[in-house]
Amino acid sequence: MATISMKVMPEDLSQVPTGAERIPEPGILVIFGASGDLTKRKLLPALFHLRQASLLPRQFAIVGVARRPLGGEFAADMRAGIVEFGGADAADPILDEFTQHISYYALNFDDPSSYAGLKAELDRIGKEKNIGDSRLFYLATAPEFFAGIIENLGAHGMAQPENGKAAVVIEKPFGHDLDSARQLNHQVNAVFHESQVFRIDHYLGKETVQNLLVFRFANGIFEPVWNRNFIDHVQITVAETLGVEGRGPFYEKAGALRDVVQNHMMELLALVAVEPPASFDADSVRREKLKVWQAIPPIPILNTVRGQYGPGIINGQHVIGYRDEERVSPESGTETFAALRLEIENWRWAGVPFYLRAGKRMKKRATEISIQFKQPPLLIFNRLQQDGPCKGIEPNLLTIRIQPDEGIALRFGTKVPTTPQMSVCPVNMDFDYETVFGKSSANGYERLLLDAMLGDQTLFSHRDGVETTWALYTPILQAWAAKKPEVFPNYFAGSWGPECADHLLEQTGHKWRNDLGRKA
Ligand code: BG6
Repeated sequence: MATISMKVMPEDLSQVPTGAERIPEPGILVIFGASGDLTKRKLLPALFHLRQASLLPRQFAIVGVARRPLGGEFAADMRAGIVEFGGADAADPILDEFTQHISYYALNFDDPSSYAGLKAELDRIGKEKNIGDSRLFYLATAPEFFAGIIENLGAHGMAQPENGKAAVVIEKPFGHDLDSARQLNHQVNAVFHESQVFRIDHYLGKETVQNLLVFRFANGIFEPVWNRNFIDHVQITVAETLGVEGRGPFYEKAGALRDVVQNHMMELLALVAVEPPASFDADSVRREKLKVWQAIPPIPILNTVRGQYGPGIINGQHVIGYRDEERVSPESGTETFAALRLEIENWRWAGVPFYLRAGKRMKKRATEISIQFKQPPLLIFNRLQQDGPCKGIEPNLLTIRIQPDEGIALRFGTKVPTTPQMSVCPVNMDFDYETVFGKSSANGYERLLLDAMLGDQTLFSHRDGVETTWALYTPILQAWAAKKPEVFPNYFAGSWGPECADHLLEQTGHKWRNDLGRKA
């Protein structure tokens, strides 16, 4: 397909808000599971970016908590992580100053007796640095420790401090099915009020994900056509070229549906489908998203497919199959690919299929949403052609590139110049974030950490939301668990997934879009 690219420039970059007015109150951020990858690769680099942007309070401390006796080497290791994963300059004096705010406390998560020591340590830091009593607890441990940590924080008076504030951020996975999510919600809310709870989904921290609401509700021209009268169908793809990256034991229990579909993809779907909220506050936004999920009828098992990658070639490199990955069963039935068709039964969307697919070891890394519009009611140019229908006419397509090559493209038909007949060719208008706003080193956690420190829950999941999405996927997980797949592995690493995923769309006359990525 011929494509033409148009560069879009913002009217006036000086009007872009910096967010500098949002600085949290003094407090201590306590990260449980701090020796894991997330802290070093994402959380600390994000916190450093906040410090660089002067968005952290002066009186601030970060206390890493984990089982290993790390002591002083923790801060040095985090400093190295900020340079390696956060793009910081190792000689930056702000980095030295920032590192001084980091300390470590060794604790056995499930040993109640060690929490009194943690409390004493936090009180000591709070007094010494004149920070006061506000604490944000970040649970980045394996999920089996969440409930115990929360209970112990409650039992030692850290959840409801007399003077300061307390809140808890809980990483995914939040439960592994409906029952476990309900139970965890119950345990969390027995200690923390819902207004203190921040269930994190890092997709909501991505600029391009937040932009979905801006794109839809800050522009006048899209919303009138954003419905069943004009939209033919919607595709959402989360394709990764990575495999399980040494996380075999975690992934064996998770699989693609739990790992990505129930959370990240449902958030994307909600933002595409949601009604305009009355305002941009946590309650209004979360209430509207919940209505979307509640309007999805049970997904028939026939509308789902699963896959598992075998060996293959990605970017010219040979890669092993899932069953050969470290600490993965050679007979594993875990899906590394999932695809499904669902509908949203409300006035805006009735009858519009939404197709979702997520996979590891796919041909290309791309998270994209594509909205395919209906064809015009009459294709008049077909009448001019001697030799059948005018070939270049394709439906309008709006693609929102969440990552990489973040941007938005709109495909439309145009006349091919100098041809005697009305030959039509599809072209793209393409907005590219990097061209307009420059390259960003942000990883999405900046915004979420800042919001959690500020107490703003808009970009975090509510308990009802988590339970509603689990209610949709639990029957599928149960059906899949009850019947081991016969043909795993069923796709080559480096492909677009199993053939059954193509058949799923063929049934309704559609095709997966596989030309993902920037258009020009
Ligand atoms: C995580 C999953 O939540 O999201 C990973 O556990 C996945 O398996 C990751 O790779 C994808 O996130 P991103 O930001 O790289 O798209």
